[in-house]
Amino acid sequence: MIASVKGTRDLLPPETRAWNRVEAVAREVFALYGFDEIRTPVLETTELFVRSVGESTDIVHKEMYTFTDRGGRSVTLRPENTAGVARAYVEHALAQAGRPWKLYYIGPQFRYERPQKGRFREFRQIGAEVLGPADAATDAELLVMLFDFLRRLGFTGLSVSLNSVGTEATRPAYVEAIRAFFSSNENERALGEDDRRRLDENPLRILDSKDPAVKELVASESFPKMIDLLASLDPASDAHHRELVEHLSAARIPFKENPFLVRGLDYYTRTVFEVTAAGLGAQDAILGGGRYDRLVSDLGGPKTAGIGFAIGEDRLVGVLPQAFRSAAIDAVRPVVLIPLDRTDVAEALALAGSLRAAGIPVDLVTQAKGPRHGLRVAEKTGAALAVLLGQKEREGGTVILKDLARRSQESVLRLALAAALRARL
Ligand code: HAM
Repeated sequence: MIASVKGTRDLLPPETRAWNRVEAVAREVFALYGFDEIRTPVLETTELFVRSVGESTDIVHKEMYTFTDRGGRSVTLRPENTAGVARAYVEHALAQAGRPWKLYYIGPQFRYERPQKGRFREFRQIGAEVLGPADAATDAELLVMLFDFLRRLGFTGLSVSLNSVGTEATRPAYVEAIRAFFSSNENERALGEDDRRRLDENPLRILDSKDPAVKELVASESFPKMIDLLASLDPASDAHHRELVEHLSAARIPFKENPFLVRGLDYYTRTVFEVTAAGLGAQDAILGGGRYDRLVSDLGGPKTAGIGFAIGEDRLVGVLPQAFRSAAIDAVRPVVLIPLDRTDVAEALALAGSLRAAGIPVDLVTQAKGPRHGLRVAEKTGAALAVLLGQKEREGGTVILKDLARRSQESVLRLALAAALRARL
């Protein structure tokens, strides 16, 4: 037997109905906020992620599916979608349209991580990006849209973790403060090999350390906080952050400031945020996002501000409120149509056609070995209604309509069948 690749998985029915419904709601909500879909390739030039997500991040450093293609180019299965969107924005000169671009995507991403609950090597993201506007109201509206979406799925009690990671104006001072913190022997001793490399290459990355001893230090009172540097070194970012906080309060978006949130990607400037959900274990972030005002220009495009988020769809579906899940799964229940003999199949095909034309979903079971077997198959599909068609019914212009839940049956004129089914569906 050939099994699926480690860290990948098949999504089977009826679970796929929940996925489809989630995606349909995302499309509906995002359209309400003026967003349009973008679809970028799964395969990108490796250089794109090195330059955007950042060389010293875990993603680029050890989690990418990178290989040399037959033409000798280094290509990578996208580990995230923001870089691809920014590349497309530059490549198609979207800036020239002189309008903000509000784009969303739904699709698979790949990271070579150790698989565990809520963490896969192939996973799916639902994301949105706004390219152009740099103001705090844009950040606020993006979060309003996000919560609108999450609430329509039935989530309650979720809250955003919010921080500002500043800009070039604060980054060097913050990096120095982190280095100074670890220059004390005691703190330095806590660092493992990975974190020493981080301190060397990109000290901000220490804040995503998974080492418990380092995590404890980072969460301590004495650890430097970017937000403390903003007011003195970067008043514009400080004002942006305070304005965002005001907008979120006014819009009643539940949020909590978290001075230690930096996120595991290098392109962020100013606003960063995450939403976590209980019940996911260690992998509890259902989404993350932030502002990236330098990404487009770093990729060779015109100076363009940007902000976005990506929801981990696997995790989202993993904690989907039960009512939404059941409604999605129960939404489609085709009527099972069972021709009782081979000689009844042609007539059943025609009947199925006319019912479908009337908008009734029909699951035709052509290989039933008699009525009992046909009904057993119908029950196993989860159907509520079955229609049996045999010689006697054909001759009489009727069918037998079975209510599988109530275990009742009646003879119905074929002409009245569509109405009878609709009344019961
Ligand atoms: P990220 O935090 O790396 O951000 O990923 C966003 C979400 O994807 C995570 O919160 C998580 O739910 C999900 N995710 C990440 N890795 C895995 C995995 N191995 N298995 C399952 N789910 C996973 C980004 O990707 C940014 N591009 C978000 C963004 C958009 N920032 C600005 N615009």
